[in-house]
Amino acid sequence: MAPVVSVEGLTRRFGAITVADDLSFAVGSGECLGIIGPNGAGKTSVFNMLAGAIRPHAGRIFLDGRDITETSQHARTLLGLGRTYQVPQPFGLLTAFENVLAAATFSRRSRGEEAEVARSVLVRTGLAARADVPAGSLPLLDRKRLELARAMALKPRVLLLDEIAGGLTEAEVVQLVALIGALKPDLAIVWIEHVTHALSAVADRILAINFGSRIAEGTPAEVMAHPAVLEVYMGTVLDVAPRG
Ligand SMILES: Nc1ncnc2c1ncn2[C@@H]1O[C@H](COP(=O)(O)OP(=O)(O)O)[C@@H](O)[C@H]1O
Ligand SMILES: [Mg+2]
Repeated sequence: MAPVVSVEGLTRRFGAITVADDLSFAVGSGECLGIIGPNGAGKTSVFNMLAGAIRPHAGRIFLDGRDITETSQHARTLLGLGRTYQVPQPFGLLTAFENVLAAATFSRRSRGEEAEVARSVLVRTGLAARADVPAGSLPLLDRKRLELARAMALKPRVLLLDEIAGGLTEAEVVQLVALIGALKPDLAIVWIEHVTHALSAVADRILAINFGSRIAEGTPAEVMAHPAVLEVYMGTVLDVAPRG
């Protein structure tokens, strides 16, 4: 099956820092690629290049086989690249419905249809009962749902999730994983995540990067057991070990 989104030879530096070093990957419809790596590895920068917020120094980006490397961020959104942000960016004073409506409106549908899209997306993301609550008053899991809802309102072909599970309780992570799993069949998902057990529950493959370079790639089980990944995460593993 042809990939929905792919990158070939993606390379980018900020001064002396390399955030992407000849990275290549492809994701098909109904598939989820996980990306892991320590803080500063370049994960969000890869999303910024996919979304068109920054330009690669080398490499190409394809959406549905079309080269979008030079395409504007706005046009990529309209072509079907949806994204959530590491720090959620809702309009806090607007209701959940209004936030999703604003996103639906962005995709230039005919009047009336936006409201319908917004309502159905709120149902799909489990927010229907919170439609009239100001986004700024929503508890964390619902703000995460709203991030997803705003991205889904653009009817994306590709969904980029940047550390969406961060800060949630274990019970909340289970709910978020179920929601993303339910959205997955219609999308190509690329998911950056530190909560690796959540990622492993949804991702078909995981790409591990450090200093912008691929250090491992494979099934979640393969990557989580890979020596290069264990070495990079050693500090984290020690941090979460029981004390005393
Ligand atoms: N726009 C930018 N200008 C300069 N440096 C940046 C920019 N964006 C990211 N960086 C740097 O690139 C490195 C990787 O950042 P980022 O892609 O956010 O990593 P990650 O998401 O893996 O934690 C960091 O050292 C960060 O400070
Ligand atoms: Mg990041």
